[in-house]
Amino acid sequence: MNITQAKFPIQKIEQSRINAVDFKNLKFGKEFSDHMFIADYFNGKWQSAKIQAFQNLSYSPAACVFHYGQAIFEGMKAYKAKDGRVLLFRPEENFNRFNRSADRMCMAQIPKEYFLDGIKELIRTDKDWIPSAPDQSLYIRPFLVANEAFLGVKPSDTFQFMIITSPTSSYYQGAVKVKIENKYSRAASGGIGAAKAAANYAASLYPAQLAKKEGYDQLIWTDASKHEYIEESGTMNLMLVKNGVLITPPLDSLTILPGITRDSIIRLAKHWKIPVEERKVGVAELIEGLEDKCISELFGVGTAATLAPIASVGYEGKNHQLSDFKNWEFSNKAKNYLELLKRGEIADDFGWTVEV
Ligand code: COI
Repeated sequence: MNITQAKFPIQKIEQSRINAVDFKNLKFGKEFSDHMFIADYFNGKWQSAKIQAFQNLSYSPAACVFHYGQAIFEGMKAYKAKDGRVLLFRPEENFNRFNRSADRMCMAQIPKEYFLDGIKELIRTDKDWIPSAPDQSLYIRPFLVANEAFLGVKPSDTFQFMIITSPTSSYYQGAVKVKIENKYSRAASGGIGAAKAAANYAASLYPAQLAKKEGYDQLIWTDASKHEYIEESGTMNLMLVKNGVLITPPLDSLTILPGITRDSIIRLAKHWKIPVEERKVGVAELIEGLEDKCISELFGVGTAATLAPIASVGYEGKNHQLSDFKNWEFSNKAKNYLELLKRGEIADDFGWTVEV
């Protein structure tokens, strides 16, 4: 094993797995780069941060994460620019959200250099894994798990922070079919909906599976108390354009994930002088707007999904169709702008890209 000392010790593998990967047919989250970042928290401090081979982990069967789900994660992407630079998009926002999630889940705060320099060092180590086709990128998954071996219900005293990366293409291929969920809930007021907690995704699996059986790709979650207002979709925040106004559900109920793509699109719209409303959107308003065509664009936004147009919305047994996605003015403009910006092909007027 070849050990190099950069910001963190790097235990480089001898034989890369990269030649076994079909970069022309990448699926989301199926292939993993050669190395991972790993650090441990015990005795009240972070220690032993290093980059090592991507490998299986060994935990006590009593580790808290298996029993009480104390785990959080982030999703980010690295892009290869035409001039050879490698760019991250607003990574500090992911860092801040990660530590807010950690706080909500009673987990140790991550030092900035572990998160940001750990990502950069890992990407440099596995730079050959960054794909360069137009819809491809290197997906970055930082995550934190509670690994104290203890069966009482209390916050863990020990944690492991890791970063893995995955060469990937878009999460959704084309427009998505969604169903408005009016029985199950993703997050209730006062719960953990605003944290990127693994448990939120576990809770979504069963209703999403039922929707899949009915032919839908995803759900639109509604408020947990009355199912009257739309909140977010499975892996994305929701946005719509109604009578020329960009509208998205607000974050104040703390039941919706504060998406970084969501924030970027709101800021772009304001910059382009498009009126923006962050306000509650009733299920009734959405259905009426689709019926009378006041709603001209409906789409999901997120790191993995980027910007995914919604092709139809199922509600109470009826599918409300949208069409002509290629000509949707705002969402295509925003998607193209962000794609070009993330790949360093236009001026970074907002200071959103960070070079690795
Ligand atoms: C992301 O957009 O990075 C997400 O977290 C969605 C993921 C669960 C696939």
